[in-house]
Amino acid sequence: MTDSAKVILTPFIDAAAIQRRVLELADTIAKEVHSGELLVAGVLKGGFVFTADLVRVLNRLGIHVRIDFLRVSSYGSGTVSSGTPVLSGDLSEKLNGRRVLLVDDIVDTGRTSRFVHEKIMERRPAWLRTCVLLDKPRRRVVPFDADYIGFRVPDAFIVGYGLDYDNEYRDRPELSVIRFADREPEPSFRFRIDGGTVLFKGHLDAKAAEDAGDTLLHWHTDLELDLSGMQGADRDGMNFLSRLRESLSDKGFKLSIRGMKRTLGDKQV
Ligand code: IMP
Ligand code: MG
Repeated sequence: MTDSAKVILTPFIDAAAIQRRVLELADTIAKEVHSGELLVAGVLKGGFVFTADLVRVLNRLGIHVRIDFLRVSSYGSGTVSSGTPVLSGDLSEKLNGRRVLLVDDIVDTGRTSRFVHEKIMERRPAWLRTCVLLDKPRRRVVPFDADYIGFRVPDAFIVGYGLDYDNEYRDRPELSVIRFADREPEPSFRFRIDGGTVLFKGHLDAKAAEDAGDTLLHWHTDLELDLSGMQGADRDGMNFLSRLRESLSDKGFKLSIRGMKRTLGDKQV
């Protein structure tokens, strides 16, 4: 059990935004798989919700999916990895010559994904891709690049939508940042995503811009930025906003900014 009095959950990415991203990912995967059978290998426990949502969209897109699960343990209870992943439950399907999509919750240090990828490659699939809901690039210890990534996220501990802290919060439909009031007094989170709207709070300084950059600069749809809860931005914050606008328009998407005048006065982004 978790001592809930000390735990603070800050909503980060809401259920609607996750569902939109699952649709986009499934669409990309379906285009690559095109036709024929795909063996989806979900990694337990963290990947179970994401796997369940993804396969149902793949089905709607006409992909013939078979499903299997493997189980890997690496975290004890807590937010720090114990380091060595262990295969605590194996797949029952044969992989030889088949097309396999590995689905996991998050790449953090990279140890688990790397370990699972190697285990599966030993069994000689014809094709192997990895799809993860979340990627924390700044935490990497072992190099690993997933083929399909839901969201790149800052270095914060995230729960919900299958992800746990001490086996809690897996059932929550949204993703939240968890922190512990007694250990981390300063909120590490200054923005959240509600559908396609990004709500900023407080000051958009270098740290906040870096955190937001991990998540938002890789966004693949139109975004609305709501700055009405923001108290201001320094130069890094302003630079971040223009990079975000450029990065989206390079990909053919639009960024609309609400509440800018109130927050930033007449500063140009
Ligand atoms: P890695 O081996 O360090 O990449 O860690 C991968 C595993 O650690 C994931 O499959 C998760 O189970 C767990 N993990 C890493 N970061 C988080 C997080 O922010 N929230 C919940 N679980 C996490
Ligand atoms: Mg876990």
